[in-house]
Amino acid sequence: MNILFVASECAPFIKTGGLADVIGAVPKALKTLGTKVRILLPAYPALSGELARGTELMALPDLHGGPARVVAVTARGLDLLLLDAPHLFDRAGNIYLGPDGTDWPDNALRFGALSYVGAQIAMGALDGWTPDLVNAHDWQAALVPAYLAAAGSTVPTVMTIHNIAFQGVFDAGVLGPLGLPADMFSVDKGEYYGRFSFLKCGLMLAAKITTVSPTYARELMDPDFGMGLDGVMQARRADLTGIVNGIDLDVWNPETDPGIPSPYSVRSLKKKAQNKSALQDRFGLTHADGPLFCVISRLTTQKGLDLLLKVLPSLLAHGAQLALLGTGDKEMEQAFANAARRYSGQVGVIIGYDENLSHLMQAGSDAILIPSRFEPCGLTQLYGLRYGTIPVVARTGGLADTVIDANLAALDAGCATGVQFAPVTTVGLEQAIARTCDLFGQPKTWAGMQRRAMRQAVGWDASARAYLSLFETLI
Ligand code: ADP
Ligand code: GLC
Repeated sequence: MNILFVASECAPFIKTGGLADVIGAVPKALKTLGTKVRILLPAYPALSGELARGTELMALPDLHGGPARVVAVTARGLDLLLLDAPHLFDRAGNIYLGPDGTDWPDNALRFGALSYVGAQIAMGALDGWTPDLVNAHDWQAALVPAYLAAAGSTVPTVMTIHNIAFQGVFDAGVLGPLGLPADMFSVDKGEYYGRFSFLKCGLMLAAKITTVSPTYARELMDPDFGMGLDGVMQARRADLTGIVNGIDLDVWNPETDPGIPSPYSVRSLKKKAQNKSALQDRFGLTHADGPLFCVISRLTTQKGLDLLLKVLPSLLAHGAQLALLGTGDKEMEQAFANAARRYSGQVGVIIGYDENLSHLMQAGSDAILIPSRFEPCGLTQLYGLRYGTIPVVARTGGLADTVIDANLAALDAGCATGVQFAPVTTVGLEQAIARTCDLFGQPKTWAGMQRRAMRQAVGWDASARAYLSLFETLI
């Protein structure tokens, strides 16, 4: 089976969030099941090295105002198809945002071009390789089904939702420049409250829809979570599946992680303490014995970290510490930086994006806090499980599906791996932190949870099989 992935991010090359981790990991898992995946990805500056050693497979003299080409290259075990269109993708800074922090004004054309080229490849534009199916990820790739439908193609498509909060909504005037027929602006396709929605269009036209956890699949049909597309999701419920994300077990392995001073396994859990000391040093924290919580996150409303700011005094009253690595909302960055000054030695904050440091944090922390208001899947709790760093999570989306709450029954049965809380309020979070500190004070119980967490299957095996079964129904 040959599959084309179309996506705007792919780890380790270009990453702003979990989408990249998933795109960088699923193809490897599918390969072991005998499926070839090629990933169509914009050739951002971060990929210039790969671009330079690739082979040109397709040339487009004019793609929305400039020449473009598709270049094939194999890198880090992934088969990439790079869309080289310098006028659209060769820009410094964030891949979605200009220097002023708002969306690039031509994002519709940039990602419309990505979808257009994905559809051309699906219809046989590359010599010698035609995919049996296209899996389009998030709004940036959501027009693949539209271009295919407009051309009368029957190549099957799967639309994967990683986060329905991002929908790619533009004025209807973009349809002309995108080269899409006017009938795409209808209520059963991309029309959305008088504007044109990339994601809605893809969701209406794709053969199947997946999202990244079973709970989020259900939540998407609920007005509280559907972000205005709950009706679309209800209409398409028969074609909607939730497949939980996994993680790359080679990249996230506490026994071999090159980014941590003291590698450890479930049998040498004690060595985690050396990583804790290193982490405390890195964040200017005292070598206190209480639980060390960490946060590794985009700082946005989704992630609920405004709640954490409010409950910090109570976290510290338990003798706990906090190390936070994040970037995003400027006000929240400022508030956490202020908290670090105010509670110096107990709260450490690094504003920025640092992949290596995120590994040390997973290895050195006792627990990881994820108080998200919604979370399609979430990956940091999965890294936490693998590193014996107990996830303390809001009971929503993939967080609800991957962490087993340490309630009395689960503790008795010996199956707890973390702490869940609901509702997602300051009181809920405060109680979860209190419960976690209490469990931390019972070393045997805590170590039992850590060992179970580390043994939990968080790789891609089962989920890659689920994708494959779904793909097979379409081919
Ligand atoms: P989302 O995709 O919504 O941001 P996920 O939990 O799925 O949430 O994925 C986030 C990914 O980005 C994880 O791999 C996490 O480790 C990483 N990450 C988030 N913020 C940072 C940061 N400031 N520095 C390094 N890695 C980060
Ligand atoms: C999105 C979601 C996150 C998910 C990731 C990968 O960014 O916010 O929950 O884990 O995509 O699917």
